[in-house]
Amino acid sequence: MPHWGRPAKRQEFPQSPCRGPIRSARVSVLWGDHLGKINRNVYGHFTEHLGGCIYDAMWVGEGSSIPNDGGVRKDTAEALKRIQAPMIRWPGGCFADQYHWRDGIGPRATRPRTWNIWWGRDESNQFGTDEFMMYCTMSGAEPYLCFNVGSGTPAEALDWLEYCKGKENTKLTSMRAANGHADPYNVRYWSIGNENWGCGGNFDAEDYAREYARYVTFLNRFAEGGNVEFVACGLFLGDWNQKFFETMLRRPFARGRIQGVNHLSVPHYYFGCGDATKFTDEEYFWAFASIRILERFLQETRAIIEHYTSGKDRIGIALDEWGIWHPVPETGDTGLLQPNTLRDALLACATFNMMHGFGDAISMANIAQTFNVLQALAFTKGPKMALTPTYHAFDLFQPHMDAMALKTLVESPTFKGQIPAGIPFSQQQFVLTTTGGRREMPSEYLSASASLNEGKKQVCVTLVNIHLTEPIEVEVDLAGPDSPAVRGGTIRALTSASVHDENTLDKPEVIRATAPKPLLASGNKFVHAVPAHTAQALVLDLE
Ligand code: AHR
Repeated sequence: MPHWGRPAKRQEFPQSPCRGPIRSARVSVLWGDHLGKINRNVYGHFTEHLGGCIYDAMWVGEGSSIPNDGGVRKDTAEALKRIQAPMIRWPGGCFADQYHWRDGIGPRATRPRTWNIWWGRDESNQFGTDEFMMYCTMSGAEPYLCFNVGSGTPAEALDWLEYCKGKENTKLTSMRAANGHADPYNVRYWSIGNENWGCGGNFDAEDYAREYARYVTFLNRFAEGGNVEFVACGLFLGDWNQKFFETMLRRPFARGRIQGVNHLSVPHYYFGCGDATKFTDEEYFWAFASIRILERFLQETRAIIEHYTSGKDRIGIALDEWGIWHPVPETGDTGLLQPNTLRDALLACATFNMMHGFGDAISMANIAQTFNVLQALAFTKGPKMALTPTYHAFDLFQPHMDAMALKTLVESPTFKGQIPAGIPFSQQQFVLTTTGGRREMPSEYLSASASLNEGKKQVCVTLVNIHLTEPIEVEVDLAGPDSPAVRGGTIRALTSASVHDENTLDKPEVIRATAPKPLLASGNKFVHAVPAHTAQALVLDLE
C-alpha cells in the first residue's frame, strides 16, 4: 500500500506511486478551480433518417400494436426521459442537406415517398417536423434542427423557421395550426447545414462562410428576440475554421465581430477500431488512446474561437456527432446497425470525463445515433427494445449534468496505445499527422472527472479503469486549502465479465448500471478501488 501525503500546496504532488508494481493512482479534485458549468446538452443525442433510427424506433404509426402516442413510440421516448435526455438533433447528418421539410408535414396519407440518397432507403415522410416535436415532448428533450444548405435555399430555411416559431397569423403559422399546433414550437438550436465541406455541398471554407452569412441575414432577422441560436459547420482538419472566421470578419458590416454564430460544430468525431465485438486487445486500447486525438482537436478549436472572437463573443463548441463506428453495412433498413459492448460504454464514459475538462467551453455533444444506428442507446425490433451498455453510461453520468466542472488531475499507470495494423490507410495518415509521426499514443489506464452540484452539497467523481485484468486503487483527494470533508455518499458501477459482453434484443440485461449503494468515505481524501474494465460514479456528500 503506497503512502499518500497530502500536498502542501494545490499543485504539488509527492512522487507518483504509479511507477511501482501496485496499480494505484491519484485523482486530485482541485476544489477552488472551477471550469464552468457542464452544459447538460453535452449529454445530447442525434437522430437521422438512416437505417432503423427513426422508423420503427421513434415512429411506429398510429395503427401499430406497439404502444404509441399518436404514432410516436412510447418505450424509447420514456427511456430517454429516464436519463434526462436534454436535446435531440434531427433530421441528419448527411440526410439534412437533402431534406425538404414540406415533404414531412400535413396529412400523412398524402405525403410524398422520396429516396434517401445517402443511406439507400425509401423515405415515407411519415415522420416530419410535427412528429419530431411530439417525440421531443414525450422524451422531455429539446429539439435541435438542421437546415438544408447543400440542396436547399435560404427561403426554404426561413419558411421552416417561421413554420416552427412564427407568432403572427401567416400562411405558414396557419399551416402549423391546421397540423395540430397553434402555438409556436420552442426550437432554440438550428444548424446551418451539416458537414458542408463534404456531404453538405462540398463547399470550401470561404464559400461556406458566404453562404452562412447569407442564410443568417434572414434567419437572424426573423428570429430576433426569439431565443434562437445558430450552429456553424466547422472542421478539425486543415484551416477550415480559420478561413471560415476570417471570411465572416471580412463582411462589410462585421465591425470586427463574428456575427450570427453561437456554436461552432466540429464535425464529427468517430472512433473506429476493429470489429464491433471481436476486437483485439490492441484495438481495444487504441480506441481509448485515441480520445487524446479528440481532446487535441477540441483544444485547438477552443484556441481558434478565442483568437477570432478576442473573448468578445461567446461561441460554444458543438461536438454534434461523436461515437464509435464499427465496420457494418451502411444502407437499407438496418444501415449502420452495430452491436454495442461494454468497451463502447466505457469509451463513452472516458470521453465524457475528457469533455468535462473543457468545462463550459463545450456547449453540446450529440452521440451518434440514438437508436439502431452506430453507438446507439437502444435497439428495437417490432415490440422488443433493448437498452445498450452505452445507455447505461449516460445513466451513470447523469449527476454531472449542469454541475460545475472542477479541475481534476489524474496520476495513473499508463500504456502506449499502438495504431492497430487493421485501421484504414487514410485513418493511419490522419493519426500520424496528429501524433507527430509516432505510431503510438501514450495514455492512462484511469480516467476521471469531477463536478460540484448546484446546491454545493455533493461532488460527483466519475472514474473509469480500462485495464483488462487489474483493479486500480485510487486515492481521491479533494485538494485545496478550503476543501470540505466528505461524509459518505453513494456509488454506482458499470461493468461486466468481459469488455466484449453486449446487450442484445434477446439478452437485453447482460450489462446495466448498478443501483446506488452507500459509499464509506470520509475526510478530504480516501482510498478507493476501481475493478478492471469498470466505470464508477461516486456521489460524495459534503460536510
Ligand atoms: O452519422 C452518420 C453520418 O456520419 C452522418 O450522416 C454524417 O453527418 C457523418 O458523416
